[in-house]
Amino acid sequence: MNDTQLKDLKKEVKKRRTFAIISHPDAGKTTITEQLLLFGGAIRQAGTVKAKKTGKFAKSDWMEIEKQRGISVTSSVMQFDYQDKRINILDTPGHEDFSEDTYRTLMAVDAAVMVVDSGKGIEEQTKKLFKVCRMRGIPIFTFMNKIDRDGREPLDLIEELEEVLEIDAYPMNWPMGSGKTLLGLYDVFHNRIEVLRPDSHNHGERFISLTDEGEIEGDHPYQNESLYNQVLEDALLLKEAGNEFSREAIAKGELTPVFFGSALTNFGVQTFLETFLQFAPEPTDQDTEDEKVVSPTDEDFSGFIFKIQANMDPKHRDRIAFLRICSGRFERGIDVTLSREGKKMRLSNSTQFMAENRESVSDAVAGDIIGLYDTGNFQIGDTIYSGKDKIEFKDLPQFTPELFVRVEAKNVMKQKSFHKGINQLVQEGAIQLYKSYHTEDYIIGAVGQLQFEVFEHRMKNEYNSEVVMTSIGSRIARWIDPKQLDENMGSSRNMLVRDRFDQPLFLFENTFAMRWFSDKYPDVELTSLL
Ligand code: G4P
Repeated sequence: MNDTQLKDLKKEVKKRRTFAIISHPDAGKTTITEQLLLFGGAIRQAGTVKAKKTGKFAKSDWMEIEKQRGISVTSSVMQFDYQDKRINILDTPGHEDFSEDTYRTLMAVDAAVMVVDSGKGIEEQTKKLFKVCRMRGIPIFTFMNKIDRDGREPLDLIEELEEVLEIDAYPMNWPMGSGKTLLGLYDVFHNRIEVLRPDSHNHGERFISLTDEGEIEGDHPYQNESLYNQVLEDALLLKEAGNEFSREAIAKGELTPVFFGSALTNFGVQTFLETFLQFAPEPTDQDTEDEKVVSPTDEDFSGFIFKIQANMDPKHRDRIAFLRICSGRFERGIDVTLSREGKKMRLSNSTQFMAENRESVSDAVAGDIIGLYDTGNFQIGDTIYSGKDKIEFKDLPQFTPELFVRVEAKNVMKQKSFHKGINQLVQEGAIQLYKSYHTEDYIIGAVGQLQFEVFEHRMKNEYNSEVVMTSIGSRIARWIDPKQLDENMGSSRNMLVRDRFDQPLFLFENTFAMRWFSDKYPDVELTSLL
């Protein structure tokens, strides 16, 4: 790269903001995503992303399961420009589409936006996803949604957030009323009021600026409102008793800035986006297995695969591998090495993701996500690089599965393709495999039901092996030190199995069974993955 090219690379990287939106189903993730896309001009009409959910816009050439569920690859990464930034939003599927991919996606982002339903507070799925973000130490921004409805008290919500998630919170704004009485947002951070419905009273201005004491200068709609005074009091209390604003604490993921707003009525969303962009990090350094650091502005291209999505078209066995670029510049046709095998390959068939259609990538830099058409070369966690020196990024973590099924080949004569399929899908990271201790039954584990459906579908279509799956239900998986293992410890309530690295673990029926076990064997330490 010459000086101009390097300068250009640095400029481009600086513009990137790559994040995921995490939430419990129905908190409003789709709605806020759509508003953000509208601001970025990536879609023209509200309802576009939503329509995809119901299948109206589903493309015809993607995996059947995806189509039935109406989720599409095109909406799993959304890229658009806003002001001078290039934004990549990575979707984290929820509901029944929840899978290990949902967790792994969080390995490929530099920040997370947590959308919370302010009527409900912190819910289960948010907690799980939050835990993964916290483990990575990435900045987490909170959007308390649905303030157009009567919800819970803001102070109550902040308190719950801090307590349940064990993170400090800093309210960036404060709702003035709620539901029908909502007047606006007291924008603590910018020291102004964001008016709910600008009218002739305030000359149609969206914002009313305040003095240092939080007073409105001159004539204004709320001067004598007791509500406004109440908000001011709360806000002052917060300033005195609450956490201090700290850019460093946000960057480390120790303090979450909290924005109240309403995605549906598009109130507070733009301010959120603009403030978020101010504090969200640009792509950062990535650690490698041999403790080296790859900088996003390193000249050589590198990246890792965090998700593989199978194509449904039986005529084309190809899949799409999602790659997060970590350094350099991707150009179509670039020659790279697949680190795991030392295999050289040319990346000529790649795609970039937009909200409405897939486009061919011309070039992309660190922070961007590209899709590589894959005919079976890639595994989840793979590193590819273009330089001479080998790069191997740290392994992606494994997540503790929660659902289990016993699996066998429908046709006993077809054991070979059954084993081949299972082994390849396990290696690829689509599913986790266990064997029961004495009977050597195959048990597969997943974090979401979708993984089983994809497994079944791919076994049939890619390996010509129909499978029979018998649910064992939801279980709590806990590993134990092999030295402490006594095979009599297993029972139907705490099934003893081995993982693919031959490590023993118990699948407990419920927390009660796990507690019972711990009481009986107090010296046995039970551990989980993430
Ligand atoms: P999700 O992706 O997190 O699952 O949530 P989604 O955006 O689909 O929103 C879930 C429901 O909450 C939707 O209503 C949506 O319109 C509503 N919603 C989202 N943001 C707000 C908000 O700020 N205020 C209010 N009052 N509602 C909000 P739905 O009835 O399930 O769907 P729809 O028929 O309205 O599309």
